[in-house]
Amino acid sequence: MTRDLGGKVIVITGASAGIGAATAVYAARAGMHIVLAARREDKLHDVARTVKVNGGEAMVIPTDVADREQVQQLVDQTVERFGRLDVMFANAGFGHYAGVDNLDGELDQRMWQVNYFGTVHCLQAAAAVMKPQGSGHLLITSSVLAHLGLPFYSTYSATKAAQHGLAMSLRHELAGDGIDVTCVFPVGTRTEFFETARKLDGRDVVGQNTPDMFMQSARHVAKRILAAMRRPRPEVWPSRLAHVAAAAFTMFPGLRQAALKSQAEKYRKG
Ligand SMILES: NC(=O)c1ccc[n+]([C@@H]2O[C@H](COP(=O)([O-])OP(=O)(O)OC[C@H]3O[C@@H](n4cnc5c(N)ncnc54)[C@H](OP(=O)(O)O)[C@@H]3O)[C@@H](O)[C@H]2O)c1
Repeated sequence: MTRDLGGKVIVITGASAGIGAATAVYAARAGMHIVLAARREDKLHDVARTVKVNGGEAMVIPTDVADREQVQQLVDQTVERFGRLDVMFANAGFGHYAGVDNLDGELDQRMWQVNYFGTVHCLQAAAAVMKPQGSGHLLITSSVLAHLGLPFYSTYSATKAAQHGLAMSLRHELAGDGIDVTCVFPVGTRTEFFETARKLDGRDVVGQNTPDMFMQSARHVAKRILAAMRRPRPEVWPSRLAHVAAAAFTMFPGLRQAALKSQAEKYRKG
């Protein structure tokens, strides 16, 4: 059955740019009440203005998802304003290029804190509201890199695979509470992601080397996310080709090695 999203309350983290900002626009068009969260308040207000142009209204709550207290306040303020929370879209995240020597470096620790524990903070706080409601939807932006390995993206891939594991387990745990859990696996998406990675490590390897057939727009990903909110499903794969490839690589890991060999070589050279 398709859900009417009109009047439903959604919190979007990582809403100041990219996939989160694009999702806010489609959520506005669907008539949802929107709460925008990220660290950069000015950017959140820009997105709120775009939401308004698209017929919606958005509340801005600057939040660092790595900070559990801030996430709790985000959810508390949402419930104070709207009386409920229907959808938590845990989307905030970043990546950067690092070799094996840096797997426990400061940036990599931070990546776990944002990508994985930031997601945990959002899901925990949201589930505490959704359980007594008897309904809700938790969505997580993971990545195709949870399934495919690329050299020098090991920590990023690991955080994204961890989000997938979290989603699979919570889906069963929360099913009896009327809470759906969806994991999203985008391929390369044209957002600020690559610019952020470049600023952090001075290279833009993913952006430069990803073939166009594996690049998508944030709008395309956002449309697929809205479709999953209307008809909840366990996984969203905005690229069918990537989905088929990931399934084949799981069955035949040697195929992954062969298929990604030349691509991996480009990443190694940088
Ligand atoms: N772009 C891709 O190719 C791609 C592919 C697969 C998966 N993904 C995933 O998609 C998600 C969204 O990324 P994007 O592509 O839309 O990149 P983006 O344009 O760089 O957006 C990332 C968002 O995350 C927010 N963010 C980062 N750290 C945060 C923190 N500590 N607390 C709160 N918000 C934080 C950023 O806002 P502030 O800086 O204002 O905090 C920004 O709004 C990420 O989880 C990413 O891993 C991206």
